[in-house]
Amino acid sequence: MSENHAVSPLVAGVEGAPIAAVRALARGRIFPADKPLIDLTQAAPADPPPDDLVAHVARFLSDPQAHRYGDILGDPPLREAYAAHLSAFHHAAISPEQVAITAGCNQAFCVALMALCAAGDSVILPRPHYFNHAMWLRMLGVRPTPLDFRQGSGGVPDAGDAERLIDGTTRAIVLVSPNNPTGATYPPETIAAFHALAKRHRLALILDETYKDFLPEGTRPHRLFDDPAWADTLVHLYSFSKVFSLAGHRVGALTAGGRLMAEVQKVMDCVAICAPRAGQAAALYGLRHALPWARGKTDAMRARGELFRRAIAGAPSWRLVSLGAYFAYLEHPWPDLTAMEAVRRLVDRENLLLLPGTAFGDGQDRHVRLAYANVADRDVAEVARRLAKG
Ligand SMILES: Cc1ncc(COP(=O)(O)O)c(C=O)c1O
Repeated sequence: MSENHAVSPLVAGVEGAPIAAVRALARGRIFPADKPLIDLTQAAPADPPPDDLVAHVARFLSDPQAHRYGDILGDPPLREAYAAHLSAFHHAAISPEQVAITAGCNQAFCVALMALCAAGDSVILPRPHYFNHAMWLRMLGVRPTPLDFRQGSGGVPDAGDAERLIDGTTRAIVLVSPNNPTGATYPPETIAAFHALAKRHRLALILDETYKDFLPEGTRPHRLFDDPAWADTLVHLYSFSKVFSLAGHRVGALTAGGRLMAEVQKVMDCVAICAPRAGQAAALYGLRHALPWARGKTDAMRARGELFRRAIAGAPSWRLVSLGAYFAYLEHPWPDLTAMEAVRRLVDRENLLLLPGTAFGDGQDRHVRLAYANVADRDVAEVARRLAKG
């Protein structure tokens, strides 16, 4: 730390990435073969994409045009295919002009919020929140206003509670459903109530549906796109990382109305010029050919979630708050321990690595997040056994 220059107090005031901090607890330790470390911290698909998708990207890369910059808002065939995909999923009519392809859903959030808010504004963020959302808002000088869910709601926030938090600085409400970190899927009526609230107060409703494909096939999670004026309020975010196992290729999408899109285009031009072209080629191929493959994976993930639900019922000292997508959010059995102390205890005694609830906001000391996506079905019962013993 010897530089003479200043750093932004807004960025310096934000804590570093929590997953790295927790993994440091296990670094340097040797784990016995009969009780290896089980790392349940990160939500990343373990399997590679399907072979035909990989072969397609290899062919794409042999085209000299593949290495050039692309359009700022994404390659037109992908914008078209994704607009058609989202329209089919939501029984809606979304046009390619209403879609921007970004370098992952994190970037979609960043560009959307930069285009929507200025320093001094505030944004309502249900707590526990996806940590990168809170980190980015604070880096922008935008205040996250926490919205806690009520006991017994299964992790679902209430629009009436949110209304009481709105003041003259509020610009947007953020929802993630299915949720990271809780796994909770918000009922359509809840999402509709938040949309109506945002509309009434002329706020943006940011809806991150990174995990929409993990719902049972044919589910309609909400009907917001039925509103012919959806683009006046809704900003929709999506990730190709999870569905097609493309996390490293950085492809996501933002869907919004024309006025916001014009601002998003300026931000995208500065931060990325265009999303990675190989990732876009992969996502396009995925939408055209790999959705059945993805369905097999997401169905298997849902079954694994149910396996975990049954297994943890056998460890009654642990209370399951909610479960879905990749995650279970749990109340740990040690009221005298902070969440980080509970995590440390589990790694020290049980070789089990989880994230503390405090990574997802203040007041989460009784909770931990567990990404069951990271273990094979055969290890789910072992995880529950170690939790029970911990
Ligand atoms: C809710 C949510 N949004 C966005 C992301 C990031 O997605 P991407 O890899 O597309 O940036 C994640 C990844 O964990 C997530 O859980």
